[in-house]
Amino acid sequence: SRTLYFSRHGESEYNVLGKVGGDADLSPRGYQYADSLAEYVNGTLGNTPGFKLWTSCLKRTIQTAKNIEAPREHLDALNELDTGVCDGLTYEEIAERYPIEFAARDDDKFHYRYPEGESYFDLLLRVKPVLDRLKVENNVLVIAHQAVLRCLLAALLKKDEKELPYIHTPLHTVMRLSFKPADGGCHLDLIPLSI
Ligand code: F6P
Repeated sequence: SRTLYFSRHGESEYNVLGKVGGDADLSPRGYQYADSLAEYVNGTLGNTPGFKLWTSCLKRTIQTAKNIEAPREHLDALNELDTGVCDGLTYEEIAERYPIEFAARDDDKFHYRYPEGESYFDLLLRVKPVLDRLKVENNVLVIAHQAVLRCLLAALLKKDEKELPYIHTPLHTVMRLSFKPADGGCHLDLIPLSI
């Protein structure tokens, strides 16, 4: 059997402000999560041969990975959903400035594409090469972002387009995926870490 580990980055300064997009640093709580995650991962996976780490190219995932002892790759394909003209806005500001866009997203969150940005459908295509690699990997920790992890989880757990954009992906939580060799089925455990 094989095991994969996913985590969102620790809380970022943008998460604190409720802003989407950007390339913010971690908040003080986010840095605490980076320490907790490193302690958990170095403890449980530190001696596992082949253990490796993939992050996005954004500062908040790289900062979250900093103290983990493993070879790492930074992949553009794992960068967060591009929110286009809404980058740096709060949901409240998006609703005020772009009410029609805001309603359209609510209406069909999977297909909705931010002006000059991406949709979940676009993102699913962007992460496809990463998914193909993950299909034959064992003991990889992927540190990425909410929308990106929803795409990876939906593909691996066989969730449909309607469910995908709403998959629960809490901060400061390790998502452990265990694959059963018998039927190829996949089991998800959420492991919240105290910070
Ligand atoms: O708020 C954090 C964040 O990663 C944003 O950068 C991103 O736009 C959003 O989550 C994706 O979640 P949703 O699709 O629910 O807005």
